[in-house]
Amino acid sequence: MELTKEEEQILQGESGEGPRAALSLLIDVGDFFEASKLIPISSAHISGVSYLTGGDGLIDQLSLFVEKGAKVSIPSTLNPCGMDRVNWENMYIDLNFATKQFEILKLFDELDVSTTCSCTPYDFGHLLSKGQHVAWAESSAVTFANSFFGARTNKEDSLSVLAAAIIGKTPYYGFHLSENRVPNVKVVVEANLNEYTDYSILGEIVGKTFSKHSFQYGAIPYFEKITNPRPQELKALGAALASFGTQLYHVDGITPEQELLAYAEIVDEMVITQDMLEKTYQSFYPETIPDLTVIGCPNANLEEIQNVAKLVKNKKIKEGKEFWVFSSAAQKAIAQSSGYIDILQAAGVKFYTDTCPEVMPYDKMRFTSILTNSVKAAHYIAAPSLNDLPTYILPLKKCVEEFFNE
Ligand code: F3S
Repeated sequence: MELTKEEEQILQGESGEGPRAALSLLIDVGDFFEASKLIPISSAHISGVSYLTGGDGLIDQLSLFVEKGAKVSIPSTLNPCGMDRVNWENMYIDLNFATKQFEILKLFDELDVSTTCSCTPYDFGHLLSKGQHVAWAESSAVTFANSFFGARTNKEDSLSVLAAAIIGKTPYYGFHLSENRVPNVKVVVEANLNEYTDYSILGEIVGKTFSKHSFQYGAIPYFEKITNPRPQELKALGAALASFGTQLYHVDGITPEQELLAYAEIVDEMVITQDMLEKTYQSFYPETIPDLTVIGCPNANLEEIQNVAKLVKNKKIKEGKEFWVFSSAAQKAIAQSSGYIDILQAAGVKFYTDTCPEVMPYDKMRFTSILTNSVKAAHYIAAPSLNDLPTYILPLKKCVEEFFNE
């Protein structure tokens, strides 16, 4: 990979050991993917924050960067950690886990990373524009960044993204190049998509069907006949697709890179019928209703929080059931000022921030299965995973009907 004079100097340690180590790692990644050079990026979104997924190894790794004096050089946000920073005890998290999690957050803070702890940084100011190069590491956020904004990022891993944040650059390969962003599969949607979970189920069908191909950068679907989707519905579609490795999709007439559709190299296509949608829903239908529902994978935005509030208003959670909503601290503050949090609390909903339904440890003495409205949550909570709990899917309205009395 070709290096600039400035990069050569960093590599020789002239900016300190932290940047030298970070650049060396980026060069290894770039060489592996045969990148020609590094390109400047305007932001980073860093994953691998939970003590559940990172363990003591994450603390050691971050400590090394801190000891070497590393600091991020561009605006950098953080993915969910393993607990709500304020209400962690209500989640049945033990003190040892909480102590380790706080240590991890402190280390990120020392690296100058904004400890926002959400997988939807675009919901509170980390916005992107078409063509903008960034380095993001959370799979659902990567798919949203590439597809909804038309920004350019590969799915970084937790180490390469930290290195990119420190240097402010990333190797120029994959989704940073226009030729790798053209659709390779086509989907005609004949089914009715009426709400969030319909889009999530659509992502499941499409992701699973095209996972038989071995595209270098995953399937890049081009959807026809999707009309007027809400942003959170496209977020749900992308998150489900991301569970199968898709990092970019296009929607006819909706997503920003319409000019790329003319270069599509379609090798497979499918039609989504109402029957396919319903059969896939059935495959996730619970045999018995679990004691816990989790909403907010990806983290809920204001409109999703409002939707829950509308459905539970003047209702009360059933005895022995728990209903948890996950969002960012920023969205919670707006929801609070709009009165939604009070409605949720009155109904018995527990609202958590800084974390997500997948990277927190469940108390398995209390919960033996989970209900959700999200395909991605179902994939990542169920086996094989660190939580390893059977997980089922219903649309939000049905989850509420099962969990609340009039
Ligand atoms: Fe976000 Fe966690 Fe789901 S990071 S996409 S809420 S698995």
